[in-house]
Amino acid sequence: MKKSALLKYDDREYSLPVVGGSEGEVGLDITRLRADTGLVTVDSGYKNTSGTLSAITFLDGEKGILRYRGYPIEELTKHSTFLEVSYLLIYGTLPTSSELSRFQSEISRHTLVHEDIKKILDGFPSNAHPMGVLSSLVCSLTAFYPESLDPNRAWEKVNLSILRILSKMPTFAAWAYKKEVGLPVMYPDNKLSYCANFLSMMFGLPTEAYQVNELAVRALDKLLILHADHEQNCSTSTVRLVGSAQASLYSSISAGINALWGPLHGGANQAVINMLESIQADGGDIQKYIARAKDKKDHFRLMGFGHRVYKNFDPRSVIIRKEADEVLSQLGVQDPVLDIAKKLEEIALKDEYFIKRKLYPNVDFYSGIIYRALGIPTEMFTVMFALGRLPGWIAQWKEMRENAEPIGRPRQIYCGDPKKTYLPLSKRT
Ligand code: SDX
Repeated sequence: MKKSALLKYDDREYSLPVVGGSEGEVGLDITRLRADTGLVTVDSGYKNTSGTLSAITFLDGEKGILRYRGYPIEELTKHSTFLEVSYLLIYGTLPTSSELSRFQSEISRHTLVHEDIKKILDGFPSNAHPMGVLSSLVCSLTAFYPESLDPNRAWEKVNLSILRILSKMPTFAAWAYKKEVGLPVMYPDNKLSYCANFLSMMFGLPTEAYQVNELAVRALDKLLILHADHEQNCSTSTVRLVGSAQASLYSSISAGINALWGPLHGGANQAVINMLESIQADGGDIQKYIARAKDKKDHFRLMGFGHRVYKNFDPRSVIIRKEADEVLSQLGVQDPVLDIAKKLEEIALKDEYFIKRKLYPNVDFYSGIIYRALGIPTEMFTVMFALGRLPGWIAQWKEMRENAEPIGRPRQIYCGDPKKTYLPLSKRT
């Protein structure tokens, strides 16, 4: 028998259907709430509101569970590759070997970008933040592929748009870095794997052959897998909202990149390293920064700590912390900020303020330490997050389109002035 909830308001009763998910999550379906009762709900930041039913990613904030299409991230980081996980998220199943090799060759075919994109790149000052460059170059694809503007085209055409952005994003990301450091851009090398190709475009030089470091490739592959999707986070919700207006895939992804840029979201990985370096420069006075994070009069927050959903531990942070130890020791890198990060975590996890608020290290707390060890500069960290999150954004946009979800348009409660009469300028004092 279908479950329901009873809402009593004024002297009337309303039955709200209950929706159940495949992992036992339960929600009240308020689709008819306003039509039947005249009421809307109020939920600043959508902390208690589900905007969709999705089959892509499941996470359990209490148990620290994260699965892509049912597969635990612990298994995927151990056995899979980022390209295979991208296929899984977007198309819904793990590819067979022939499907994967076809996918890989399709991706390789589209890694080059129109030469005129270099003119857009040249238009940026060298101090432009790479996230601004990335979102602009992604949006420029709407100009080079105007047919992509119509999301209602035949599936083969939409899929071509998906393959193009998956292929070109690493090129854009690496070119944004080259722009910043004033070095010539490097073209893709389709003999290399997805991550090796990205590293070769990032660090390769026309004056010498790039030596692929397999350890760096594997570490990057794992990091991108761990960032690949995370259900309805801020940037994914942005992609869905923009896409729900039937804006194109490229404009939806460009909007998602800008949402991710925020320091409370993907921009936190850059903010974590800046924070750890400040603590290091301040003589390593960790207690001082813990006190600042707890002081309500101080805007300072412990970046990389806390999460809207994970209230026990972020399973990605557990994997990344272990990976950081391994990568740094195998690369022979000594990074003092790793020791500061570990000390900070140790102190914070024993502090009542963080325990009471269930604040634990999140995906951003340790990821920057690995990026640094791979030679990736701090201002590129959020670009790396975007590179990882791309297949998730695509999968979520695709699911929203396939489910023909309506345009997103939240309601509000008005709390402004009552009706007024216009006062001519001459009468205003
Ligand atoms: C990502 O949603 C996703 O899935 C995101 C993400 C993904 O994969 O897409 O996981 C990626 O964005 C990870 C989060 C990265 N951001 C940071 O590390 C920035 C620092 N953390 C926060 O600002 C905060 O924890 C959020 C934004 C992550 C979560 O904020 P919430 O859920 O809105 O919680 P809140 O701001 O209401 O905080 C609750 C309490 C408050 O104190 P009280 O008012 O109850 O006294 O906890 C405090 C906050 O002041 N608090 C912190 C804190 N985070 C929360 N205090 C100090 N340092 C912090 N980091």
